[in-house]
Amino acid sequence: MQDNQIISSLLEPLNQPKEFSKEAFGNDFMWGVAMASFQNEGAWNVDGKGESIWDKFSSKKNKIKDKQNAKVACDFYYRFEEDILIAKSLNFNSFRFSIAWTRILPNGIGSVNQAGLAFYHQVIDCCLENGLEPCVTLYHWDLPQMLEDRGGWTNREIIAWFSDYCEVVTREFASKVKYWMVLNEPAGFTGLGYMTGYHAPGRMGMGNFLPAIHHTAMCQAEGGRIVRRNVPDAVIGTTFSCSFIEPFTNKLSDIKAAQRTDALLNRLFLEPSLGMGYPVEDLPFLKKMMKKYVQEGDLEKLAFDFDFIGLQNYFKVVAKNAWWMPYLGATEVKPQHRNVTDLTHIGWEVSPDGMYQILEQMSQYEGIKQIIITENGAAFDDVFHEDQIHDADRIRFYESYLQHILKAKQAGIKVNGYMAWTLTDNFEWTEGYKPRFGLVHIDFETQKRTLKNSAKWFRAFLDEY
Ligand code: NOJ
Repeated sequence: MQDNQIISSLLEPLNQPKEFSKEAFGNDFMWGVAMASFQNEGAWNVDGKGESIWDKFSSKKNKIKDKQNAKVACDFYYRFEEDILIAKSLNFNSFRFSIAWTRILPNGIGSVNQAGLAFYHQVIDCCLENGLEPCVTLYHWDLPQMLEDRGGWTNREIIAWFSDYCEVVTREFASKVKYWMVLNEPAGFTGLGYMTGYHAPGRMGMGNFLPAIHHTAMCQAEGGRIVRRNVPDAVIGTTFSCSFIEPFTNKLSDIKAAQRTDALLNRLFLEPSLGMGYPVEDLPFLKKMMKKYVQEGDLEKLAFDFDFIGLQNYFKVVAKNAWWMPYLGATEVKPQHRNVTDLTHIGWEVSPDGMYQILEQMSQYEGIKQIIITENGAAFDDVFHEDQIHDADRIRFYESYLQHILKAKQAGIKVNGYMAWTLTDNFEWTEGYKPRFGLVHIDFETQKRTLKNSAKWFRAFLDEY
């Protein structure tokens, strides 16, 4: 079958309503792919790059599935041109990537590594030459290990360290980059990295989590202010992992449990940025943080006037009361225990309706000026069949999520961009290379890229005709 025949056969049975088209989203809608330095670049010790917490963590025993690491990953450091050209060939108009702090400041602070700056100039230039808007995330989880050795996010000095890093990067790229995101999913990296220890740097407990929360929230706003100062006409955002939280039953105890879970997963970093302070009422454990780590004058500094909020959604969460769970008093009821069968390869519930509901929830905040979906996607067990990857599940995933986003937009919700996670299969943190999220398959032995049918689906959907 020819490519165009495959695409029409893919589009037909889905019975799309006429109004579901790229045009329906509007001419100024951003269509992008997103990726991150540590998950894609490889070249972990090349051209003066310093060690990050993820380099160190993944070199330890039993931290990453199948003993994998990201020393080479997708080899993006050497193959960025090929990948950017693929993104362009799929008709995307923007490209989200993150800058590795350790390439710019190998020790976290101090001397600047010119080779690191040169690399990102090349990436940005390549985007611009190919008509893709470069969208930069300043921090996507790869903290310099030298700073972790001094306490990392638990040390208040990180506000100064992070500010210095932001100064260097924003001044350097001010004339080329308009779209900036300060942090990637702060609830994710503080919770998993400093509370449960499941992610780098692998630290656990409230004694680490509480200071990490406050210093991260301070950096989130400070980073925004630095971009504003250094980049004229910047469009500034920061990203949040957001999931619609549903109570397991209508019992008041479950409703309250869902409310607490919502405060932890969705509101903890968003509300301070909007000048609403921390959600202390729903999360009483934050009182200790307020007492111990919040200094005079801090609360006012937590707010920043972001131009957009990056919403990252993958699934919905069903929560129920659990008195035995310390601090939160709630637990998640996994889809497998609710007889839900529409799951991705890693057991996440496919819930386009959850995307609609979280968009609706976010639209209630007056302070949010604009929403860009900065990540959404799915891992499936992609298999080759006659040289093709027929990832019909992924196509169905994207189509249904996009239909719900369009519905939200048509209902007046200010959503103005969508970035698929992700362009190529990459290193999925502690899960290693098994979960494949890409539109493009990578054979990690040879680094060969092969378009999956979902990539061709996007190419057809985004076609300018
Ligand atoms: C969110 C993170 O930002 C990204 O790094 C990760 O790969 C995806 N979710 C999928 O888990």
